[in-house]
Amino acid sequence: MGWALSKPSAMIAFSPRGPLRGAARIPGDKSISHRALILAALAVGRSRIDNPCDGTDILATIAALRAMGARIERHADDGFPAGQGWRVDGVGVGGLLQPAAPFDLGNSGTSARLLMGLVASHPISARFTGDASLRRRPMARITAPLRRIGARVDGDTLPLDVEGLHPAIPTRHRLEIPSAQVKSALLLAALNTPGVSELIEAAPTRDHLERLLALFGADIAVDGPHIGLRGEAELRPQALTVAGDASAAAILAVAALVVPGSELRMEGVGVNPGRTGLFEMLREMGGDIAFSNRRDISGEPVADLVVRHSALRGVEVPPEMAPRTIDEYPILFVAAAFARGRTVARGLAELRLKESDRLAAMAAGLDAIGVRAEALADGLVVHGGGGAPLPGGAVIDPRLDHRVAMAFAVAGLNARAPVGIAGMNIVDTSFPGFLSALEALAPA
Ligand code: S3P
Repeated sequence: MGWALSKPSAMIAFSPRGPLRGAARIPGDKSISHRALILAALAVGRSRIDNPCDGTDILATIAALRAMGARIERHADDGFPAGQGWRVDGVGVGGLLQPAAPFDLGNSGTSARLLMGLVASHPISARFTGDASLRRRPMARITAPLRRIGARVDGDTLPLDVEGLHPAIPTRHRLEIPSAQVKSALLLAALNTPGVSELIEAAPTRDHLERLLALFGADIAVDGPHIGLRGEAELRPQALTVAGDASAAAILAVAALVVPGSELRMEGVGVNPGRTGLFEMLREMGGDIAFSNRRDISGEPVADLVVRHSALRGVEVPPEMAPRTIDEYPILFVAAAFARGRTVARGLAELRLKESDRLAAMAAGLDAIGVRAEALADGLVVHGGGGAPLPGGAVIDPRLDHRVAMAFAVAGLNARAPVGIAGMNIVDTSFPGFLSALEALAPA
C-alpha cells in the first residue's frame, strides 16, 4: 500500500489509501516562478521571491540566470524557513554576461523558450540543450520570430545556438499559435530592444509575464489582444510572493473528486483566468469545488478552494478551452474516466507537442488500466465508468512527462488493482512534494 519514497526513480505503485482529508500546501506556481526570477535577474538591485516553485525546471532557469551574472541565493530571514525563498541581485536589462557553458534546461520547455528570447536581444550567445523530451519539442515557433528581430539561431530543435543582436529590431508579431511561452519569449526580447515591440494574440493565454512586467515598472500597454512593450526598459526590484500553482492544485482537486469520502482544502491557489479552465470543466461535470476569500497576491488573483468527492458526468470540452486548460487535460481525462458517460475533448493538436505526446500517452495509459479511450487527431474520447473503481493493474511509462505521471497516480487511488508509474521522479520538475502531499492527506 505504501510508496517507496526512498527510491523515487523506481516504479511506484499507487492503490487506494482511503479518503483524502485536510489541507494541502500548494507549491508556488511554476510559470510565475520562472518569470519572477528572470525579471528579478534583469532588475537593478535586490529582489526577493517568496513561495517559489522548487521544481527542477525552476532550478534550470536559476542556473542559466546565474551563468549570465545574476546572483541568486536562498534566503531564510523574516520567518521564512530556509529554502522557501530566493534573494536575487539583478544585473539590469542589457547587463547579461556571456555564459561560459551551454545551458542544459533538462525537461523545461519554459526555461528553454523564455531564455532564448532573453539572449536574443543581448550581445551574447548561448547554446541550449535539454533532456530527450525537450530535444524532441518544436522550437521553430520561437526561432522564426527571434530571427526577425535579428538574432542568429542555428536550428529549430535543441540543441541549438542563439547569438543575440543588440540593438535588436522592434517588430510587430501576430501569435498564430496560442502559446504563453512564445509570447513571453518575445516580450523578454523586447525588454532590451529599443522602441516599441508589438504582439497580437490570436487567442488569450496566461498573462503572468504582463502582470509581472507592470509590477517591475516596465512600459507595457495591454489592450485586448494587443500588447506593446517599450525598450530599453529599466526594471525596479520587487519583493513578491508567488501564488499557489493552479496546475498542482488541479491534480489534488481531481484526486479529492474521485476518491469517495474526500474533502480537501487548498489555500492561496492561483485563479488567473488563463489557468482555470479545468476547474470550470470539473464544475460542469458536477464537481463540488467551492472558491472563497478571493484576493490578490503580488498582482495575481488567488482563492481558497474546498473540493469534495462528487459524482461526475461526462462533458463535451469546447476547443476554445484549450489555452486555459492546456496542462490540465491529462488529469481531466482521469476525472472523465470516473464520470458517467462520455467525455469528448477536441482542438488539442498542441497536446501532442508537450513534454510528451499527451494524447497518445493518455490514450495508451487509460487503455492499459482498463478505461476505454480513443485518441482523435486533435483530441480524445474517454468512456467513463460512472465512479466505480477503475480496473487498474498496469505499469505506466509517463514518457518523461510529470503531468502524465501525476494523472495516473491519481487514477491508482481508486482502482481495483495497483497502478504503477515507472520513473515517478519526473514529478520533481514541477511538484517535488507531490507524494508527501498525498501521504499527508491520506495517511493509509
Ligand atoms: C507555459 C505555457 C504553456 C504550458 C507550459 C507552461 C508557460 O505552454 O503548457 O507548461 O509557463 O508559459 P504553451 O505556452 O507553449 O502552450
